[in-house]
Amino acid sequence: MNISVLGLGTWAFGSDKWWGWQSDSKSEEVLETAFENGVNLIDTAPVYGRGHSQTVIGRFLRQNKIREKIVLADKLGLRWHNRKVEHNLSKKSMLEEIDLSRKRLCTDYIDIYQVHWPDPDTPIAETAAVMEKFYAQGIIKAVGLSNYSLKQIQEFRKYCPVHILQMPYNMFERNIEIEIAPFCLQQGISLLVYSPLDSGILTGKFFFEKQRVPKDLRRKYHSGLKAPLLTINNEFFKQAKDIALNYNASLAQLALNWCIAQSGITSVLAGARNIAQIKDNLLCFAWKPKQLDLAKINELLEIRKREIKKSL
Ligand SMILES: NC(=O)c1ccc[n+]([C@@H]2O[C@H](COP(=O)([O-])OP(=O)(O)OC[C@H]3O[C@@H](n4cnc5c(N)ncnc54)[C@H](OP(=O)(O)O)[C@@H]3O)[C@@H](O)[C@H]2O)c1
Repeated sequence: MNISVLGLGTWAFGSDKWWGWQSDSKSEEVLETAFENGVNLIDTAPVYGRGHSQTVIGRFLRQNKIREKIVLADKLGLRWHNRKVEHNLSKKSMLEEIDLSRKRLCTDYIDIYQVHWPDPDTPIAETAAVMEKFYAQGIIKAVGLSNYSLKQIQEFRKYCPVHILQMPYNMFERNIEIEIAPFCLQQGISLLVYSPLDSGILTGKFFFEKQRVPKDLRRKYHSGLKAPLLTINNEFFKQAKDIALNYNASLAQLALNWCIAQSGITSVLAGARNIAQIKDNLLCFAWKPKQLDLAKINELLEIRKREIKKSL
């Protein structure tokens, strides 16, 4: 499977109170710009806007007749009832979900089908057996797991091959470096990383441009936008911006290039809401950070880590 290093994350296309409201026309413009500029990997999930992100993508692929040119990364395992979202990886639910997803995405097959989160109430063996069946039937082309621990991944692999892992990763969130990324390298598993911009925080816009944090999940939950991290992050951004400016680049590009340069990363899944954002993100390919600058960033990140420890 040939997948682009920059993948398009489409949670925001769902347009909901979690990730904020978004017009379909803007989402379509982002899809078009991404595709025209070589992005062939699109990541979505049924739970993004309760099917809406998938519907927007499915319509775009059908209208433009480009299904075969796109690698669709979809997910399953989070179901909703009224306002509540629940884990469900029972066989019955998985069989329902794959049909609903294929219908919304206007496709017979899903390239990368990822279990979104583990379900504490369903044995891993049951979930893995169903995924294995989908794979053997050819209705999915690769099996993926997201947000699983190494122990859970190893258990899953007893019953079903795992081709891809999808995990959170960015300058501020580096847990996968301990076990997951080395494991992927050793086992030849592709690693897709999500939230490479730390949900937009790493663009620095909430600090430099004093943009108001939108009324979505970030305002309520993101610790990076609250004291004491807010001040500590601000210091980091001031220094990191100087590095980005040496390349005439934005902080968003620097954050993406930092991820891409790390060992074991196959693709970064970055969200974008409009043409300006996707164009800015694509510009990360117009330059490459020097090793010296990557080392400087890591030094700044170490200082940040020490400051956080002190503040606790
Ligand atoms: N497997 C999972 O559990 C999981 C979890 C989370 C995400 N994901 C996937 O990963 C994708 C990306 O993650 P994410 O959306 O959480 O975070 P992200 O990619 O770190 O941040 C994306 C957001 O940052 C802002 N942004 C993007 N480019 C920008 C630019 N150049 N300048 C200024 N702002 C910019 C936009 O939001 P604003 O304009 O509103 O600031 C955009 O929606 C998701 O869409 C989804 O496909 C998967």
